Amino acid sequence: MTDERIYLDHAATTPVRPEVLEAMLPYFTQSGYNPSSLHAEGRRARAALDEARDRVAGLLGAQRKEIVFTGNGSEADNLAIFGVARARGGRGARGGHLLSTAIEHPAVLRALDALRDEGWAVSLLAVDRDGLVDPAAFAAALRPDTVLASVMYANNEIGTVEPVARLAAIARERGVLFHTDAIQAAAYLPLDVAALGVDLLSLSAHKFYGPKGVGALYVRDGTPLQPMIGGGGQEFGRRAGTENVAGIVGFATALSMAAGERDAASVRVAGLRNRLERAILASVEGAWINGGGAARLPGTSSASILDVDGEQLLVRLDLEGIAVSGGSACASGALEPSHVIAALSGEPRGRFGTVRFSLGRSTTAEEIDRLIALLPGIVAELRAFSVVPK
Ligand SMILES: Cc1ncc(COP(=O)(O)O)c(C=O)c1O
Repeated sequence: MTDERIYLDHAATTPVRPEVLEAMLPYFTQSGYNPSSLHAEGRRARAALDEARDRVAGLLGAQRKEIVFTGNGSEADNLAIFGVARARGGRGARGGHLLSTAIEHPAVLRALDALRDEGWAVSLLAVDRDGLVDPAAFAAALRPDTVLASVMYANNEIGTVEPVARLAAIARERGVLFHTDAIQAAAYLPLDVAALGVDLLSLSAHKFYGPKGVGALYVRDGTPLQPMIGGGGQEFGRRAGTENVAGIVGFATALSMAAGERDAASVRVAGLRNRLERAILASVEGAWINGGGAARLPGTSSASILDVDGEQLLVRLDLEGIAVSGGSACASGALEPSHVIAALSGEPRGRFGTVRFSLGRSTTAEEIDRLIALLPGIVAELRAFSVVPK
């Protein structure tokens, strides 16, 4: 064991990069004013806010007024779904239809649950064994009363990249608004909203080396959207509350840095991820990679392993100094897969646990080699001492 920790949980969150922190600091201290104030101090804060919004809009190929900053990515997802449903359906709408997928983040799924309780019809599309949505099935599921379709750009657990541009084009042809949760995708994939053809797109700064607690929703001009937070007229009347100027400056700085490095970072990180996966498949019997047959985010690798409890594996890796996430939201020992893993079609393969390795800027080949060297032994040990009933 060495004292050096290995962080392989970049899909959960990323550390703020130094350049981003530096850009943010003045807005906590000497320039920490309210952008709605009319005095010179307020106008300086407003200028920083406008500049940050313009940068983000530019990176998305959007207009300034189409960017709404929020308190996090979950709020952006909620605003897209509740905002459109309430604006389109009005109060107590019955009979409207919302279409999404079985593998969305809970920020989307719980919003849909709440609308279902209010009388909306909600359909969740199944995915194939790699987690992909079938465009033909998507088209077939659209109804004359469908108001909004929401399909994530890339999945947070397995990294599968969905055919969002194709799905959005189908929705548009049918007059249905299209939202995509691009929160995992933003670090690596192009975000040009015109090329994607989406009406709404969610982002969260802490997934691309920006601060936690700041998200954004792109809302195409003319899209009906009822605010969820009422109050002052901030964010073009779409999200009340004094703006988090430091966080928004950090968001814009981090997103522009990510965009500048996207191609090189993708190639480097995918190389390390592929090396890890080849080694897992070669050295751990009964292992497979979820989503391995689809286009995926370069840094995300979800490995399922037969006869191993994912939580126990996570804890053992943590003791060895390696931070990963579980692919399971189960009570300890239950070996119950998460809603995403459960949605991947295919033959049931027996009892298995799942862990997600997510690589990032700090990940090195040495770190991956250390993980590769440790993993087969830990799996053998867990299998030998497993308390999981067979
Ligand atoms: C795909 C996806 N959507 C939404 C969220 C929620 O974002 P936030 O943590 O900023 O609320 C996350 C974060 O885990 C995510 O990965």
